[in-house]
Amino acid sequence: MKQPTADVRADFPQIRTALPGPEAARIIERDTAVLSPSYTRSYPLVAARGEGAIVEDVDGNRFLDLNAGIAVVATGHCHPQVVRAIQEQAARLIHMSGTDFYYENMVTLGEKLAALVPGGGPRRVYFGNSGTEAIEAAIKMARYHTGRDKFIAFLGGFHGRTLGSLSLTASRAVQRRRFGPLVPGVTHIPYAYCYRCAYGKQPESCSVECVKVIEDELVKTIVPAEELAAIVLEPVQGEGGYVVPPKKFFDELQAVARRLGVLIVADEVQSGMGRTGRMWASEHFGLEPDIVAVAKGIASGLPLSATVARADLMQWERGAHASTFGGNPVAVQAALVTIELLEKELIDNAARVGAHMLDRMRDWPRRFPVVGEVRGLGLMIGVEIVRDQARRERAPELRDRLVRMAFERGLLVLGAGTSVMRLSPPLVLTREQADFALDTLEDCLGRLVVS
Ligand SMILES: Cc1ncc(COP(=O)(O)O)c(C=O)c1O
Repeated sequence: MKQPTADVRADFPQIRTALPGPEAARIIERDTAVLSPSYTRSYPLVAARGEGAIVEDVDGNRFLDLNAGIAVVATGHCHPQVVRAIQEQAARLIHMSGTDFYYENMVTLGEKLAALVPGGGPRRVYFGNSGTEAIEAAIKMARYHTGRDKFIAFLGGFHGRTLGSLSLTASRAVQRRRFGPLVPGVTHIPYAYCYRCAYGKQPESCSVECVKVIEDELVKTIVPAEELAAIVLEPVQGEGGYVVPPKKFFDELQAVARRLGVLIVADEVQSGMGRTGRMWASEHFGLEPDIVAVAKGIASGLPLSATVARADLMQWERGAHASTFGGNPVAVQAALVTIELLEKELIDNAARVGAHMLDRMRDWPRRFPVVGEVRGLGLMIGVEIVRDQARRERAPELRDRLVRMAFERGLLVLGAGTSVMRLSPPLVLTREQADFALDTLEDCLGRLVVS
């Protein structure tokens, strides 16, 4: 493994203590006593500061962040231009409630997002604070506009945890268990998860059965078309395991939606804001959604979300939907700078470094028996971990061990889906950092044995 300079370089990891270190252990003990046990911590990282793709913990250990706060800090941790914009805006105006009053930067960001989303034509923008709020707004708008109450969503999809968005989420049982009844009217169908095709097909020769089922079966049985408001999907599934469908999935989906007269809602909360090497994952596939949900990477870490819809859809009466904090001026200012940085260089960097990583990882299934598939777009990369390549048997315990081994070597990665390791680094990741990360992961994979 090539790590000779790791000890001295500030842009590489350095582990100085056993993990967790003493200070981290103390904080985790206090956390455990007082905070909600529902939080899903994978390993004991207690962050103290971050810069670019590096996070330092409270004991002075340095980690290379291949997760970016779950695909949030697109411009890296504490990008100086983002920090400056936040500080200056905080000194001018922290809050005013865009629901009740006007301020200019909220309009400017609305104009920017309206122009950016795929599809062309006039768009309107609703601001919230989180991904789940962007989806709630999409659900309510689709119902309001169409007068219909039914939705089709996809198995493996994750759209949030409030009750409306949770009704669309079909990612893990633990997220839904004991919370029902959820919002009625949602039907889930298999996603184009070609590695694990629900119809037993191969991507090259399939007829996109996972979309055909909508017209062939659903609308004839349980979802009459005249009651169907929208089809909701992530263009690349995130929490479901970084699953990238083939283009024909989207072609067929748009054709079906057109024929049935139903809306398409693209949840770009995780796949958007440059992560895939384009501003939106939808762009890779020619997908032109009616409504786009945006959050996570939009403001480099400040809470902000947007629901961007065709202007003729976002026609609801005054007071129909709003939020006290949505479109907060400080978060909006961070988003404006974030978009500027993305457009100037970071989307290109995501495409370039992501392609380099995928290129290097292409032979992992051949080199490592526990790797079933490597897939991704830009810096949204998933590695399917299996017990057995031939049978594609999932191996969550091996995946968890891999995530933990990486952590102990100074890499922050997370799981996704049942058996996938995901890489979603900040879009400032350099090629050298990427190579260091891949060297380290290769070393971990080489040591990972099926027990
Ligand atoms: C695709 C997608 N949609 C929605 C959400 C929910 O976002 P939030 O956690 O900000 O509510 C997430 C969060 O992981 C997501 O990945």
